[in-house]
Amino acid sequence: MNILIVGSGGREHTFAYKLVESKQCGNLFVAPGNAGTAAIATNVDIEVTDFEKIKELVLAENITMVVVGPEVPLVAGISDFFKKDVHLKEITVIGPSQEGATLEGSKEYAKEFMVKHSIPTAAYESFTSDTLEKGKAFLETLNAPYVLKADGLAAGKGVLILNDLEEAKQELEDMLANQKFGEASAKVVIEEFLDGIELSVFVLTDGKNYITLPTAKDYKRIGEGDTGLNTGGMGAISPVPFADKAFMEKIENQIVKPTVNGLSKDNIDYKGFIFIGLIKVEDDPKVIEYNVRMGDPETEAVLPRVKNDLVDLFKHVGNQTLNEVKLDLDPRTAVTVMTVAGGYPEAYDKGDIITGIETVESSIVFQAGTTLKDGNIVTNGGRVLTVTSFGENFDEALKISYKNIEKIKFKDMYFRTDLGFDL
Ligand code: AMP
Ligand code: GLY
Repeated sequence: MNILIVGSGGREHTFAYKLVESKQCGNLFVAPGNAGTAAIATNVDIEVTDFEKIKELVLAENITMVVVGPEVPLVAGISDFFKKDVHLKEITVIGPSQEGATLEGSKEYAKEFMVKHSIPTAAYESFTSDTLEKGKAFLETLNAPYVLKADGLAAGKGVLILNDLEEAKQELEDMLANQKFGEASAKVVIEEFLDGIELSVFVLTDGKNYITLPTAKDYKRIGEGDTGLNTGGMGAISPVPFADKAFMEKIENQIVKPTVNGLSKDNIDYKGFIFIGLIKVEDDPKVIEYNVRMGDPETEAVLPRVKNDLVDLFKHVGNQTLNEVKLDLDPRTAVTVMTVAGGYPEAYDKGDIITGIETVESSIVFQAGTTLKDGNIVTNGGRVLTVTSFGENFDEALKISYKNIEKIKFKDMYFRTDLGFDL
């Protein structure tokens, strides 16, 4: 079958890498893709939200499966667009309906869903500019640190954690009255601070059945020791060593099952990934967020561990037969280390030549912000490429990634050298 991947990051390169392994994969297209996907599939220069152009491509190339990488087209309703079109409605779309995507598109909606289905999460209240004073009064009833979340999509920047009450009140005002994050902060969720260690769990569901994919831990801050600005993610480790059997059972029973059952009870059409961000508070998991897609760079550590035929898995999602699937995992640990352009996550250059990718041994390079220019692979984003390796434990795997990163060069390349420091 011919397949289209929507997106252009390391996550999408990893999907492409796994899909082309399958005998069932015919022509593979990526819209818009990057230099990494160009080497194994056909890139098509279409924006991820240009549904009409995507439709033209799908019909022209006889594509029967569409795998949606990022949240933006999902929140914009790409799955519903396919469902409602007589020519597209039979096509398998991996990605939830617009309503399902609201679990990521609105923090308040996600909180209401969790409360309704008794899924453990931080206590909260939400406020708008009309209730700003009530919001400030609510902050006064809490202890520091204060957690403020813009309700809508804010490219990973919409969560503020503040130690000072006055500062928290000022930020609340900036978000609600001064639109600090635009429309996304027209509503703000104020949440109880959860103290513990973070991990993520990934679920693939067909709306009725699900499989739980390996856990991962992401390193979000730019600086060593988790300091400095937030990024899209500087690396990931899978599995997370502290997520033992007993803890995974709690996650399954208290969080994954009620989530999938809740979607079904609420008649929410959901065929795709659920990425559940968790904090382990003492011995219990609590949800801090839902994402309606795979994580990036978590995908680059999680998917290489999945030995199943990915086309086959996705076909089972389309047919709602995931109950027939047995997950086959590589028991080793996988890590991925992200290299970024100097200056990221603030201003950085693009167009710098990348060399050495072909000299990498015993690791997999997944490209993110790259493109082809005059026959060279050049940088085209803040997060440039990530190096995935396997090992008996994360230290062993990291050594291999770090050794290979030394062979890759581009101007002002930066990466964190301390992944796993907190484990
Ligand atoms: P999010 O964008 O929802 O992933 O939030 C960004 C980061 O803020 C998370 O990765 C956590 O580190 C932190 N965070 C979010 N909610 C809470 C909370 N209730 N308590 C403590 N930390 C949180
Ligand atoms: N790495 C975090 C995310 O994909 O949202």
